[in-house]
Amino acid sequence: MLYIGIDLGTSAVKLLLMDSEGKIVNVVSREYPLYFPHPGWSEQNPEDWYAQTMEGIRELLQGADKTQVAGISFGGQMHGLVILDKDDNVIRPAILWNDGRTTEETDYLNNVIGKEKLSEYTANIAFAGFTAPKILWVKNREPENFEKIAKIMLPKDYIAYKLTGVHCTDVSDASGMLLFDVKNRRWSQEMCEICGIREDQLATCYESYEAVGTILPEIAEELGLKSDVKVAAGAGDNAAAAVGTGTVGDNMCNISLGTSGTIFISSGKFGVDKFNALHSFAHADGSYHLMGCMLSAASCNKWWMDEIIGTNDYAGEQKKIEKLGENHVYYLPYLMGERSPHNNPNARAVFIGMTMDTTRADMTQAVLEGVAFALRDSLEVAKSLGIDIKRTKICGGGAKSPLWKKIVANVLNLKVDVIESEEGPAMGGAMLAAVACGEYGSVEEIAAKVVKIVDTVEPDPELAAKYEARYAQFKEIYPTCKPLFEKLL
Ligand code: XUL
Repeated sequence: MLYIGIDLGTSAVKLLLMDSEGKIVNVVSREYPLYFPHPGWSEQNPEDWYAQTMEGIRELLQGADKTQVAGISFGGQMHGLVILDKDDNVIRPAILWNDGRTTEETDYLNNVIGKEKLSEYTANIAFAGFTAPKILWVKNREPENFEKIAKIMLPKDYIAYKLTGVHCTDVSDASGMLLFDVKNRRWSQEMCEICGIREDQLATCYESYEAVGTILPEIAEELGLKSDVKVAAGAGDNAAAAVGTGTVGDNMCNISLGTSGTIFISSGKFGVDKFNALHSFAHADGSYHLMGCMLSAASCNKWWMDEIIGTNDYAGEQKKIEKLGENHVYYLPYLMGERSPHNNPNARAVFIGMTMDTTRADMTQAVLEGVAFALRDSLEVAKSLGIDIKRTKICGGGAKSPLWKKIVANVLNLKVDVIESEEGPAMGGAMLAAVACGEYGSVEEIAAKVVKIVDTVEPDPELAAKYEARYAQFKEIYPTCKPLFEKLL
């Protein structure tokens, strides 16, 4: 049998075809535009996602035996607000996970409703990118659109709806809406009331590995697939990436270096940290996880390469980097504000420490290091909760760089296990589809069978010690700049 995993990302949709043994048969990727209509805002058109996904599936299946396709599932960019009217038409462009427009609504939720109540209802507090503050933003700023809302969906769920006609979501992605009672894996009535919505405006929530239905007859015809192809609910991209890298069960770690950067810790039981600095979400394996999310990770390097120094030779630029652990230049990676652990949409990117002899390579190195230091900020929160992590998996576009993996291993002082494929979320999506189709009994079972570690990057004690000292300095830069960020608006 064959399974399609769809990773609905921010820069592109990545599609992967996997066979029953977990072998990757084909991978394709198709880009779509990302719009920044105001500084700090971030939007995409759900119709673009759908058009490119359909094109992508066609391309993915070229030369494959289409009769063998049994299931489809997803990893999807989280938190995005997609609103549909009574005829299931998209009302306005989707407001994405890295959009910072909801400062007022986030403050209202955290300070007027109160963090304690939010944490009691949902296991989380409000962050600007979460879905509930965006619903309030539409209610306050676009009342005519708010009135039209018949369904509130997340990005990948819009694609599932187009393929099946079912309004569905899954527990991991629903966790990031601030409308979901994570502990009990059901919608929160209290949060619906706070946001002025009804539960019937939300999608039906499934476990990630459950089938929500089969593809519509017209989709089967359009793609040349059998009409009994099952669609599984899938997961938020981080939970899907965790499945794809075998980060399931208790106390496993995965780092994703994509547009966002995340550190994901799977957990056998539900838990919340005292200050809600890490997100406490349901996992796609039926259990829970904690996660720190930075809004700009590999996107910092892309910005630096493409926009600033104007090259696409990423590997060539990185070859010039020689002085690991000795860079005097520091970089704060807050190009879109920051989520974990600072929760500050007004934070901005900063270079500091340059002198006349600073080179282009030092600046490039500072960008790679700044992202690693910011991931370490979230790891420190996990450590403060008594969580003991010694090794991590890694995935995402940034994980293609051997140098960046070495920096991450040494800055976080963790062994970094490299998986056969960096396509974490798309692989996880295909694996969830295989479980939904009954090919495997559970997510843990398929992960144990198909995920293969091909290399481990070990931290070097001398270099890790140098980075320890650098991290102590890095930690002082954000609090020093913070008052300025408020003035620079
Ligand atoms: C996680 C988050 C990002 C997006 C990126 O909370 O906001 O990782 O899911 O697609």
